[in-house]
Amino acid sequence: MSIVTLNPLQSHQDLVIDPGKITGLRGKITIPGDKSISHRSLMLGAIAEGETVIHGLLLGEDPRSTASCFRAMGVEISQLNSEKVIVKGRGLGNLEEPLEILDAGNSGTTIRLMLGLLAGHQDRFFVVTGDASLRSRPMSRVVKPLKEMGAQIWGRKANSLAPLAVSGESLQPIHYYSPVASAQVKSCLLLAGLLTEGKTTITEPALSRDHSERMLRAFGANIEVDGETNSVTVTGYPTLTGQTVIVPGDISSAAFWLVAGAIVPNSELLIENVGINPTRTGVLQVLQAMGADITLENQRVVTGEPVADLRVKSSPLQATTIAGEIIPRLIDEIPILAVAAVFAQGTTIIKDAEELRVKESDRLTVMATQLDRLGAKVRELPDGLEITGGTGLFGTEVDSFTDHRIAMSLAIAALNSRQPTTIHRAEAAGISYPDFFSTLQQICQE
Ligand code: S3P
Repeated sequence: MSIVTLNPLQSHQDLVIDPGKITGLRGKITIPGDKSISHRSLMLGAIAEGETVIHGLLLGEDPRSTASCFRAMGVEISQLNSEKVIVKGRGLGNLEEPLEILDAGNSGTTIRLMLGLLAGHQDRFFVVTGDASLRSRPMSRVVKPLKEMGAQIWGRKANSLAPLAVSGESLQPIHYYSPVASAQVKSCLLLAGLLTEGKTTITEPALSRDHSERMLRAFGANIEVDGETNSVTVTGYPTLTGQTVIVPGDISSAAFWLVAGAIVPNSELLIENVGINPTRTGVLQVLQAMGADITLENQRVVTGEPVADLRVKSSPLQATTIAGEIIPRLIDEIPILAVAAVFAQGTTIIKDAEELRVKESDRLTVMATQLDRLGAKVRELPDGLEITGGTGLFGTEVDSFTDHRIAMSLAIAALNSRQPTTIHRAEAAGISYPDFFSTLQQICQE
């Protein structure tokens, strides 16, 4: 009997989740590669000397966008597969001027990090764009500091929206105090700093994910970190050498199973090979504080990133407050944490999360409206959500708004509802987790 039914005849897929016969979730899950690390391994591989070998690359749409942009700039990248991808580096500053517009698709990481790299490629001209969602997301957060470094960038709405045109220039180092804690802003400027004489420093209001710092260092760049002030400094013109990168599983993808395992009664899941970089583990901290039964097993370090297997068993959850410095450490997990809150006793408050309004969708509005349709007690706040849990959900029709994390969060909510739910535009999950729905089907016990 199928718990998950897809209607594949439409370009936008409707997916029906029928929770009727589920008696629990059980099994071992291997999650796909970390999206952030996948992008960075392709990009650093492209600008290093020699070959980079990537094991475990995420095969979602977002890294495919990165690979196609860099191929268009003359980088040889072997066929993408999760076993092994080989990137033949061109060396720093040697990307070719593309003959076509570079299309970053749905991927904020691709466009923002790439802008940093392109800005210093003198005598070359680039045009970058993306899908409807990406063309509505703010680019001024990277365009402004890049212009302070001397970059030449033009775009819609006072250079703040894609499509953007970049004319490569000689850049000057700056010390930039970012108003947002954003790894994309930080990484964009670190990459721009590679093609800048001297030292470029970025200070952020709270620590964001540090995969760029770790990987740049592994490739040979000089990176100085000041943990007291959340500052990172890169020295220009390093020799970057191709490396072997083993991409750990994505904790942002594991988060769906952590919540599913916690809220569906009679469940036990083992999620193998999950990256537990401390700048990403806010979701573990919050779920454990809510009473989730999660244990970390087999902890190890794989190519500079901490990794563990995560075991989750169902348990009652209590409400919590999620706010302040932890937000950047769980920014992508807020939609699925909102689902956990729906099944927790008491009122959960999520604050200081206005950044969610400029993700792949406005995740505060979309989660509030879609959870409301399912019968949750939810109130949208300017910078968060207020959710009173414990009332249960009924099945209905909901929509992903083409946002991958919304599609998957709603699927987990639907799994614990009283009637079947139809999720419109469920195919969005393929951005970061192409096998999500088949894994869901496999772990459902009837
Ligand atoms: C990412 C950083 C985060 C995150 C995104 C991936 C990255 O965005 O939401 O999914 O790979 O650097 P911000 O840094 O803009 O918050």
